[in-house]
Amino acid sequence: SPSPREGEALVDGRPVPVRPEPGQCLRTWLRDNGALGVKKGCDAGDCGACTVHVDGAPVHSCIYPAHRASGRTVTTVQGLGTPEHLHPTQEAFLRAGGFQCGFCTAGMIMTACTFTDRELADLPRSLKGNLCRCTGYRSIEDAVRGRVNVDEGFGG
Ligand code: FES
Ligand code: FES
Repeated sequence: SPSPREGEALVDGRPVPVRPEPGQCLRTWLRDNGALGVKKGCDAGDCGACTVHVDGAPVHSCIYPAHRASGRTVTTVQGLGTPEHLHPTQEAFLRAGGFQCGFCTAGMIMTACTFTDRELADLPRSLKGNLCRCTGYRSIEDAVRGRVNVDEGFGG
């Protein structure tokens, strides 16, 4: 994909001019620009529902200044895969039933898809920046580990 130019961010592969309101956070700016898969949770950096990647690294977009996205690549859950070709982590959450209400799911997936063996060996601590208010952590950890809970339905 092309490199973002200064004054623009490449959002899910699409160049977008970065002209945020003063003090605007990346999450609000992304949603204002159509990235509605980015969730608004605590708005205080605590829950991880708003997690996106900036230049490949997960950030809590509610506490990331939007103007800092200039010249950077931003990926939201909508840019990770497509309905026809899900990202392997999206596929894993589906197969493991790693969600209940789904509110935390996009953020969980954006964090988990960056994990290497090191983070996987340190679950649940590696997921401590992402809260699930439905407390479906076991299924979420199974999803992150690539386990399949076919008999258990969603959650659990
Ligand atoms: Fe950003 Fe909770 S909404 S961390
Ligand atoms: Fe409901 Fe995590 S917050 S599934």
